[in-house]
Amino acid sequence: MKCKSLLLGLALAVAACGQAPQQKSGLPVYLDDAQPLEARVEDAFSRMTLDEKIAMVHAQSKFSSPGVPRLGIPEIWCTDGPHGIRAEVLWDEWDQAGWTNDSITAFPALSGLAATWDRDLSRLYGKSIGEEARYRNKTVLLGPGVNIYRFPLNGRNFEYMGEDPYLAGEMVVPYVEGVQSNGVAVCVKHYALNNSEVNRHTANTIVDDRTLYEIYLPAFKAAVQKGHAWSVMAAYNLYNNEHLCSNEVLLDKVLREEWGFDGVVISDWGGVHNTLQTARHGVDLEYGSWTDGLTMGKTNAYDSYFLAAAYKAAIEKGEIGTEELDARVKRLLRLIFRTAMDRTRPFGSQTSPEHYAAARKIGAESIVLLKNEGAVLPMAANPKRILVVGENAVKMMTVGGGSSSLKAKLEVSPLDGIKARYPEAEVVWERGYVGDVGGEYNGVSTGQDLRENRNAATLIADAVKAAVGADYVIFIGGLNKADRQDSEGLDRVQYGLPYGQDAVIEALAEATDKLVVVNISGNAVAMPWVEKVPAIVQNWYLGTQAGHSLADVLSGDVNPSGHLPYSIPVSYDKNPVQTERQYPGILRDGTIDGMPVLDMEYTEGIYVGYRWYDQHGGVLFPFGHGLSYTTFEFGEPRLNKTSMTENGSVTVTVPVKNTGSVKGAEVVQLYIADVESSIDRPAKELKGFAKVLLEPGQQAEVSFTIDKDALSYFDAGKHAWTAEKGTFQALVAASAQDIRGTVAFELK
Ligand code: BGC
Repeated sequence: MKCKSLLLGLALAVAACGQAPQQKSGLPVYLDDAQPLEARVEDAFSRMTLDEKIAMVHAQSKFSSPGVPRLGIPEIWCTDGPHGIRAEVLWDEWDQAGWTNDSITAFPALSGLAATWDRDLSRLYGKSIGEEARYRNKTVLLGPGVNIYRFPLNGRNFEYMGEDPYLAGEMVVPYVEGVQSNGVAVCVKHYALNNSEVNRHTANTIVDDRTLYEIYLPAFKAAVQKGHAWSVMAAYNLYNNEHLCSNEVLLDKVLREEWGFDGVVISDWGGVHNTLQTARHGVDLEYGSWTDGLTMGKTNAYDSYFLAAAYKAAIEKGEIGTEELDARVKRLLRLIFRTAMDRTRPFGSQTSPEHYAAARKIGAESIVLLKNEGAVLPMAANPKRILVVGENAVKMMTVGGGSSSLKAKLEVSPLDGIKARYPEAEVVWERGYVGDVGGEYNGVSTGQDLRENRNAATLIADAVKAAVGADYVIFIGGLNKADRQDSEGLDRVQYGLPYGQDAVIEALAEATDKLVVVNISGNAVAMPWVEKVPAIVQNWYLGTQAGHSLADVLSGDVNPSGHLPYSIPVSYDKNPVQTERQYPGILRDGTIDGMPVLDMEYTEGIYVGYRWYDQHGGVLFPFGHGLSYTTFEFGEPRLNKTSMTENGSVTVTVPVKNTGSVKGAEVVQLYIADVESSIDRPAKELKGFAKVLLEPGQQAEVSFTIDKDALSYFDAGKHAWTAEKGTFQALVAASAQDIRGTVAFELK
């Protein structure tokens, strides 16, 4: 007893003398994880010098930035992102460092994850990739990407989660939670309006507030507010005549003030272009810059970063105070305490059987069966001869595409997946066309030699000849990760399939009625042969287990349940982005940050994806579409009540039954239509979805709760979400164009 009160007395005496608080543990507050996060941040901050603060806000190497070595506060290590952990690169260079222990699991591309419409799989994805990041001791995973699919030429659509803000917003949250459960921060990218790649450093997006808030921001907001993302990446492009990395509206007003984001904004690599504006309103952490006279890679280039020596000089000259720097440093400390200094975080794992299983499952569940006339699929149990045609059946797709390029420990090609599934069958491969023979990115090579001597006509003739006597002909083509395909930095230059693939498909369709076309891409493509091909499959870049996932679906071991996260228009001229003003933008006079500027105006407004096609037609396969090897019947939807108040809700329930003979999952979609509206609104908008797995004959009731949020539009005049009183419809659907039932209710 005496001892205790003596200790208490001592503690009080120390506190009274104004010394730094000493913990029972003997640790300073910032090192004591029993202390509240904010107390630790304040304590660490109070011990730092100006130089230490300046050091923290810019990079020290390609992918790392300093902690506070004197205080034992660790560095921040970032890694791409978003489909697997990038190979280690040299300190100052993009080239891989040549480690032999940095081969990883390549997970399916995020376009595929979105096509699962399965929140649990998104969590599994996040948890698994987060474990790989943790194992490699990374602080920040540069992903996920949630830029909206605005049109089908964007080279990076494969890294994003589709055209609908609700779908992307629902799918991103569990990914974020899964990653961060490992004590690894996500970095949600590319905030914001980075919807195309051409001119990505110089395009100034002009977009009205309603479109910004209804279409382009919700997925980011969900990641921040519901997922509690610890970091966000500011994009390259401009908005409101300011680069995103120093954008007052989108960073200060929206992200930090409106959404209450307390995490770190990291610049996209080389996205910062000035000191003062960035210091006042911009990113917290500058990466990838190259500045005056110092080309990329010079070892002392980091001192020349905009938030380095120039920032310190501006403070010393009194051009700017220290308030912003202090806030930045506190946000960075918060990030480090949440991650590298969280002693309770797990240890992670790399290329584990669990990760391979997760990749295979997510992959299989992402594959979308677009068409299946005459039930060509699933394949019969014992085919004797299978002809596989197409470069994408063998091409390794984990290498290429830009910063998401990977060094996968294993990549099972579609051809090998099919061979493994049908060991008894004769599986023959014919190339059909020559696409991209490259196979190297930043020193990571596929090791494949894809050179070819035959000309196009011979390749087609050889494929057609091989089709004779085949039980199945499976064409596996689409896009790839080469420049101007699905790849960073440039966009696609055509909507049609490249490399003359249409001619190959047409010729095969003549030769067999057992043709299956598998399109591998992260974007919609033209399908002029759609009527001639009985079975069409939309596949994605599925990573390590790509071939197994595909074989799982073709064989029927897995019943397809993927649904399109974007619309596939009949032809390019049907899509909402048509004019030069909309894309790639119009060069204006003058410069910003010393660079030319192209104004790119989103004149299509809120009419993106099915919101556009609902009004203008022209869709070949709609958003939300996906077939199964079984059939589902939707019963009559019913409401629990026919009206709701502003603070209330209504519930729609619909019975769904598996009426076929195999187990399968259906994605039940809920769209809301505002029937009486004083403003222009889309015909309908997705506001709910659920994936239900049913045994043959089994029925389930699926319920959706609709509240005011689901009925609201963004009133730019009031700068607020508003729901007008009156009648609304709840549409229960199997795709944006397959409405199975409608019920109406009133908002009172
Ligand atoms: C990309 C980012 C990526 C970064 C680091 C940039 O070029 O836009 O998505 O995370 O490089 O590799």
